[in-house]
Parts: sequence; structure tokens; C-alpha cells
Amino acid sequence: MSRDYVAVNRELWDKDAPNWVEMGERAWAMETPEWGTWNNPDDGLHLLPDDMSGMDAIELGCGTGYVAGWMARRGARVTAIDVSAAQLATARDLAAQHGADITFVEGNAEETGLPDQSFDFAISEYGAAIWCTPDLWLREAWRLLRPGGRLTFLGNHPISLITSPEDGMPNDRTLHRPYKGMWGADWTTVAYEPSGICFNLTVADWMALFTRIGFEVRGYHELYAPDWAEGERAAIPAAWAKEFPVEQVWILEKT
Ligand SMILES: C[S@@+](CC[C@H](N)C(=O)[O-])C[C@H]1O[C@@H](n2cnc3c(N)ncnc32)[C@H](O)[C@@H]1O
Repeated sequence: MSRDYVAVNRELWDKDAPNWVEMGERAWAMETPEWGTWNNPDDGLHLLPDDMSGMDAIELGCGTGYVAGWMARRGARVTAIDVSAAQLATARDLAAQHGADITFVEGNAEETGLPDQSFDFAISEYGAAIWCTPDLWLREAWRLLRPGGRLTFLGNHPISLITSPEDGMPNDRTLHRPYKGMWGADWTTVAYEPSGICFNLTVADWMALFTRIGFEVRGYHELYAPDWAEGERAAIPAAWAKEFPVEQVWILEKT
């Protein structure tokens, strides 16, 4: 991807930020986490340690900052970085409303400028996980973590990309793109719900990258839409997402 995707994505999120305030308010108010586009419950996933007291945690691409808020509520000292000033403005407002003490940083999650080995736990839910070049942001997360530290990230499943039509129309049961060599997609000029430039890899390429960087896989989940789901979210029909994995979660440890 030769375009300046960081600037493209920043501009998109600065413009789109007002549309995410309501969702951010709902997520900040949740008693227990719900993950991904289809609000999958945390039971069985358990993506955050129950007790994070004494832990230094970072969210990479925090958006409205609700995951950072959930970690602060569990006792962590939390830093949250995002490239969009407008998204951070919402995050700061919501943190203040909820009395959460979070250090917000405006910047690119691929090069945070934060010190080496300063965190025990890192997470990204649809932040760096999909908007940053995998090789760059994963190396940065590895650098930021202490040995034994964990990185959990959630983003689109590769199957959801190959079954997405080139014009961005909702997913169907046809393979529209090659799986081999997958890098992601440029959604800026598609006819249906244009957005930014996103990244994804084949499962084998993700795993090879983790090994090259020095992460070990501690868990992998494939998420589907729950039974109650209907309609369409993020250009993915509920009926599709009940039968095919719409999202993936990787749980990694810095060795
Ligand atoms: C969908 S939000 C993720 C937050 C939240 N978990 C959610 O799902 O709404 C995506 C965020 O990633 C941020 N982002 C995109 N590119 C980034 C980059 N290079 N560095 C840091 N944040 C980035 C955007 O500004 C946006 O706020």
C-alpha cells in the first residue's frame, strides 16, 4: 500500500467521529464487555484479565476509549493512543464523565514514541488491529510490552474480506477476492459505504508474522453473530455472520 494510509484514515475518522459518540456512550456504560460489531458477550472469550490492578495497559487505536475505560475500571494504569483528534475528544469527554483516569495520546499506533517495555498488556479492538500495517504495529506492540506481556486484538476475519464484493456491497457466499497474498483493502472509493484503508492477512501469514516478531499464540477465536442478530452491520448481513466467522481474535504473548 503506497498511499499515505495513516493520513487517509485520520481524515476519515476525524470526519466520522460524531457518528461514533452514541455507540461510545453505550459501551462506556456497559457492566461487562461486549466485543466486536455484533456485541459478542465476554463469557467464553474473557479478553481482559478480571483484576488488572498494578498492570500497565495500552489500547492501540482507542476510538471513543471504552476498552480503555473497562481496563481502568479493573484497576489498570491505562494509556490509550489514537490518530484522530476528534475521536480522542470524545474519549476524553467520556473518560471524564466516568471518572476514569486514562492517559490519552494523539499519534500513530505504528510508532507511538512511548518507552520500550512499559506495558504488561496491550489490546486493540478494530483499532491498529485493522487500520495499521500488521508488520509495523505488531513490532511496535512487541517493543512496548514487557517479556511475558500479552497482546489481544480483534478485527475482521479473512473470510469476511474474501467474500466482500469489490464495490463494498454486503458480503455474500461468493469468493470475490483471492485469499493468497491478502493484504487488506482500500475502501475509499467503493460505491457502498466508502471508508478508509484496512489491513488483513491470511491466517498462515498472521502466524508467520507473529513468529518472526517474537510472539507466541496463546489463543484464537472466530466470532459469529449471535442468534438474536438481524439486519446488517458494517456491510455484513446478520444471516451471513451467523454462518461464517465475521471476526477473529488473536491472543499473543511476548516471549
Ligand atoms: C473503530 S475505532 C476502534 C475503537 C473501538 N474499539 C471501536 O470499535 O469503535 C478505530 C480507531 O482506529 C483509529 N486509527 C486508525 N488508524 C490509526 C493509527 N494509525 N494509529 C492509531 N489509531 C488509528 C481511528 O482514528 C479510530 O478512532
